[in-house]
Amino acid sequence: MHRYRIAWMPGDGVGNELLPLGIKILNTLKFKADYIHCDIGWEKWKNEGNPLPDKTISELKKADCGFLGAITSKPKEEALKALKPEFKDKNLEYRSPILQLRQKFNLHTNFRPCTSFVGNKNNHKEDIDLAIFRENSEGMYSGVEFYPIPSSVFDAIENQNKNMRKFRIEKSDDIALSARIITKTACKSIIQKAFEFALLNNRSSVTLVDKPNVLRETGSLFRQVALDISKNFPTIKFQEVNIDAMCMWLIKNPNDFQVIVAENLFGDILSDLSAQLVGGLGFAGSANLGDNFAIFEPCHGSAPKYYGMNKVNPIATFLSIKLMLDWLGEKFLSDVLFNSIQMVVKEEKIGTYDMGLKNSNIELTDEICKKIKIRLN
Ligand code: IPM
Ligand code: MN
Repeated sequence: MHRYRIAWMPGDGVGNELLPLGIKILNTLKFKADYIHCDIGWEKWKNEGNPLPDKTISELKKADCGFLGAITSKPKEEALKALKPEFKDKNLEYRSPILQLRQKFNLHTNFRPCTSFVGNKNNHKEDIDLAIFRENSEGMYSGVEFYPIPSSVFDAIENQNKNMRKFRIEKSDDIALSARIITKTACKSIIQKAFEFALLNNRSSVTLVDKPNVLRETGSLFRQVALDISKNFPTIKFQEVNIDAMCMWLIKNPNDFQVIVAENLFGDILSDLSAQLVGGLGFAGSANLGDNFAIFEPCHGSAPKYYGMNKVNPIATFLSIKLMLDWLGEKFLSDVLFNSIQMVVKEEKIGTYDMGLKNSNIELTDEICKKIKIRLN
């Protein structure tokens, strides 16, 4: 087997506890790789004023792919408050390093599968098998935001009277703007990926989730592209559902859906909701995919209050490792890992607190390693 080079980014909080468990799994699988430790996250921001050091970017460029543990992200005021005093007056802005990486490396597709495991008491329903394709570089996450807004933008807003009301803004501090930017290129790419996945994996439908009845320009562009591309996939049913209704339908009838495609923010929301349908964020892995590069990460956050307690479910990290193995073409190892996780969950003997059991994440990892060893022998 080729010896891989993985940029290894534990990040914040429980990322530092879960990534060593991930290495244990990869070593048990006899996966051959060098894991290059890279700094990223809140600690770097607080102490150095930059959550994404240049060194990390250059290591990522040299690697086959990246793996991220978890990242702390906080709103503007809290981020400024956390900075070391010497950086406070430097006009620095915190922008989540994972969002930066998704844009810098054009990781346009965020693939988030949510599958119910037999034996998981927290499954909302059995046989849930959702694949979420979240556009990963623009939409409401474009990073085009203003406060205060420049006069040219201010004038454009004041004059805009197309939809419901003409904005009459008395004071410039009365208005802040975060733009939802959607390009045809990104729509094509994410929709194409969703349909290709459906075709290759025998899924019968693709559902576009958005709000085109209100977000008329961006929403229309997205759905027009989707309608066009859907014509090339006549065997797959294409359906459209509004984001608000989708939250209701997913809870009511999750088995009615297979492949879901959405812009960045709606995809973010839907992926947490869908994770809960299959037992919570402890079961949600994800892949940030570009054309030739990818970064894998569990969907959950850094949960600093749990760091060091060995409580947090490591399965989301292991499912992200599975996605990494798939992307690297290591299908056999990916299957061994997935089957081993399935087996341990099914036995209902060893599991973390969120699974209704009492074990530490170390014990759960060791149990999964035992199953891997049996399969490899
Ligand atoms: C995720 C996370 C990130 C996001 C945060 C940490 C910026 O919630 O990967 O879903 O919103 O994309
Ligand atoms: Mn999220």
